[in-house]
Amino acid sequence: MSGSLPVYEGDMFGRDAVLNARATDDGIRELAPVVWLARENIAILGRHEHVAAGLMDWQSFSNRSRPWHDPNSVRPEILLTDDPPRHTEIRKVMAKVISPTRLKAWQAEFDRVAEEQVGRLMARAGETIDANVDITRPFVHKVLPDLLGMPEAGRENMSAFGHMVWATMGPMNEIFHEALVGSDPVIGWADASCTRANMSPNGLGEATYRLADEGEITQDEAKLLVMTMLAAGSDTTVVTMATAIRAFCEFPDQWRALRANPAKLRNAFDESLRWDSPSRMAGRIAAKDVKIEDYTIPAGTRCGLLFAAANRDPRKWQEPERFDIARDLRGHVGWGYGLHACVGKVMAQLEMEALFGALLRHVERFEAAGAPEWWLTTIGHGPYKLPIRFYAA
Ligand code: HEM
Repeated sequence: MSGSLPVYEGDMFGRDAVLNARATDDGIRELAPVVWLARENIAILGRHEHVAAGLMDWQSFSNRSRPWHDPNSVRPEILLTDDPPRHTEIRKVMAKVISPTRLKAWQAEFDRVAEEQVGRLMARAGETIDANVDITRPFVHKVLPDLLGMPEAGRENMSAFGHMVWATMGPMNEIFHEALVGSDPVIGWADASCTRANMSPNGLGEATYRLADEGEITQDEAKLLVMTMLAAGSDTTVVTMATAIRAFCEFPDQWRALRANPAKLRNAFDESLRWDSPSRMAGRIAAKDVKIEDYTIPAGTRCGLLFAAANRDPRKWQEPERFDIARDLRGHVGWGYGLHACVGKVMAQLEMEALFGALLRHVERFEAAGAPEWWLTTIGHGPYKLPIRFYAA
């Protein structure tokens, strides 16, 4: 099956590799344009040129199956698991639900929550706090379920749910099984919270079910989409915003530059996605023989396209380790690329603009107060704990 693809014998998804995800992924990228993962029987692409081209080419790299695909998994099987024409239909529905106009209506509320939470946090200026636990998570875990229209009860399950979703995307290894320990009540909570009867009338959840009433999707698909928004939005935004704070600790001149020019905020957020991407890879299956330089990936091969490695490929990015809010980021794949590029991007940006808007107003600088503790999932990556100190402006 692998033909003459250069072989990687290591365990890309084991505990050590996950704890050193960036070094692992960069190392695989540098081995060859395509690498055969002997343990997992998948082909891996890590160079920007091939990852970006592959993400654009759904006819070669299909989403109908992926490495370790299990149709009975706890993850919603919709949209990311579809190719056109079904993907196009469902994506149109999703775009109606998460329309910029609908989101705009929530902006003032997001800003209010951010100002209130950051205002309260200022009492702790100079103390060691955790950027994820004390700043980004409480914000996202308030505004996201409010936006979806979920009940208040049980929201403490959001972290466990998000963790379980990301930890079960990869192979069934130790990390996968650990994430499922005691998960039944968490899955039960997510399932019950996303049923129509439990959604408030003005949230995105009810808006999704209304599109089912109008015949655009089925009621079952509506529920899958609500669960998708919960699964995809719970932890990605939390860790990416924590990554941005980590970057501002390591590059304090960049926080100063952003405070001097807040119009750069979206670019700064994209730069944090490039600098340390929260998603390691996209899973696809080769729908036909695919030629990458001197190698051929045979049709039917399951593949991983490495977002993170591509976003740090020195062939594409000058000094990829440097965090630079003014960088020209055209072509970065932190939101994915092509057909399946993140449909929740505007939602994540709205959250980020509200929270960082408040931080820019109140915080003069951040500094690291210890080593980050990495998110222990096979595919998701970022600081799960990040000890920092901050000082009032
Ligand atoms: C900073 C936060 C986020 C990041 C970095 C991120 C990243 C990504 C990436 C890399 C993909 C492409 C996956 C692939 O091609 O295999 C993707 C797709 C997707 N994202 Fe996000 N995401 C974020 C937030 C969100 C939020 C808040 C939602 C909630 C709606 C969301 C929903 C989705 C969905 C449904 C897809 C699949 C789209 C499709 O298949 O057409 N994401 N995201």
